[in-house]
Amino acid sequence: MMSLLALGLMTITCFFTSALRFDSAKVFRVKPQNENQVSFMKSLASLIQMDFWYPDSALHIVRQMEVDFHVSAEQSNTVESLLKQNGIHYKILFQNLQEDIENQLDGDKNLSHGYSYVKYNEWDEISDWTARIAKRNSTLVSRFQIGNTFENRPIFLLQIGKKSGEGKAIFMDCGIHAREWISPAFCQWFVKEAIRTYGKDSNMTYILDNMNFYIVPVVNIDGYIWSWTQDRFWRKNRSNTSQSNCIGVDINRNFDIAWGTVDASKNPCEEIYCGSAPESEPETKAVASFIRSHLSSIKAYLTMHSYSQMILFPFGYTYEKTANYNELNELAKTAAKAIASLYGKVYKYGTSASTIYPSSGCSDDWAFKQGIKYSFTFELRDKGKHGFLLPESQIKPTCQEIMLAVKLMASYILNKAL
Ligand SMILES: *[C@@H]1O[C@H](CO)[C@@H](O)[C@H](O)[C@H]1NC(C)=O
Ligand SMILES: *[C@@H]1O[C@H](CO)[C@@H](O)[C@H](O)[C@H]1NC(C)=O
Ligand SMILES: *[C@@H]1O[C@H](CO)[C@@H](O)[C@H](O)[C@H]1NC(C)=O
Ligand SMILES: *[C@@H]1O[C@H](CO)[C@@H](O)[C@H](O)[C@H]1NC(C)=O
Ligand SMILES: *[C@@H]1O[C@H](CO)[C@@H](O)[C@H](O)[C@H]1NC(C)=O
Ligand SMILES: [Zn+2]
Repeated sequence: MMSLLALGLMTITCFFTSALRFDSAKVFRVKPQNENQVSFMKSLASLIQMDFWYPDSALHIVRQMEVDFHVSAEQSNTVESLLKQNGIHYKILFQNLQEDIENQLDGDKNLSHGYSYVKYNEWDEISDWTARIAKRNSTLVSRFQIGNTFENRPIFLLQIGKKSGEGKAIFMDCGIHAREWISPAFCQWFVKEAIRTYGKDSNMTYILDNMNFYIVPVVNIDGYIWSWTQDRFWRKNRSNTSQSNCIGVDINRNFDIAWGTVDASKNPCEEIYCGSAPESEPETKAVASFIRSHLSSIKAYLTMHSYSQMILFPFGYTYEKTANYNELNELAKTAAKAIASLYGKVYKYGTSASTIYPSSGCSDDWAFKQGIKYSFTFELRDKGKHGFLLPESQIKPTCQEIMLAVKLMASYILNKAL
């Protein structure tokens, strides 16, 4: 009787968990050789439902750029024959995305040793963890709520460090884009390592004795949940305020810096829709308001994304260099070297505009314009083999290598007379 009942409940649960499936969905990689091929790719994107993985949108495509995009099983034959007809070479990076979605969860299945930092955690688990860690390690960690999402979930920030009042601080956010799961995994890892190594590792102890970290483990919580329950490749938030049928704003185009100018879209159906106005989104507003009210202490802004293995710094909205370009470039170079020293992973570095492509309304440019001189966007692993479906078995090495970069930046900023 009990087992029948349980079976019945399971059936109901499965019935209502209507996550999109991606059986035989494919990811193609092409490298347009000339302007004709670029415009062909752009027009293809207007005819066929294409989910761009790299770059973020067809708008960004230029000659000689490696372009990764996902299409449904139904469309993939059409895409393939159109590419052939037009003489565009392609590789198929993923033959069956559904398989890779399932294979990505290859990490820790043993739940008996508590919270796991080597698996992808759902929001409810992360949320409980923020409360627990602030309670258990209250001498080092405090939790604050900095706002609410569109769907009214509290956005939490963890303050880590021994400094009370307005000392130096580094602000770091993760999970602006929903499908980039390695990003929130890094914020969790960072907090764990900070607590574990405080009092043991002399560098970490020095850092946390002298400065605070403000960490938002997941900014776009609504989108993150959506990527778990409905659509693994969701990117934007879940706001529904435009007149169109399309949902969501790209939070990383919604900041008040050259908003809606270069390579952002005012079309709500685009993945890089910039919203109806700067800071129209509550998630953007929460981050921006917190930073504005702590400007006297925040010396660095770090934001974690994936994928493509890069360390980027301002500007994105213009090719102009910042006054401290040389210093930022040097710091990014040293950080990339530290990363490579561990597992040999190569991270490119440079300004966003010159290293990836121009884009406006991005959080790193905005933070820089607020006077935060050290502003970096990290694009974590990998370079497209797994893309957004980076297996859990790579969480640990990825976090370890990025940890080196973040600690190095923190020490640098701390030692610098500001
Ligand atoms: C699970 O973790 C616990 C505690 O760390 C350990 O004692 C146990 O052997 C592990 N089980 C497996 C199957 O690895
Ligand atoms: C954090 O909390 C754990 C569990 O209570 C404890 O073992 C550890 O010593 C604490 N560390 C710090 C730095 O507070
Ligand atoms: C601390 O940082 C310095 C350089 O900033 C480095 O040489 C040293 O190895 C680091 N020590 C530890 C324990 O990480
Ligand atoms: C968006 O909001 C409108 C009304 O404001 C509603 O009719 C529509 O169903 C909503 N769309 C979605 C997808 O929730
Ligand atoms: C999501 O985007 C909409 C605009 O489409 C915005 O109004 C809403 O506040 C955003 N939600 C979040 C959580 O950012
Ligand atoms: Zn991103």
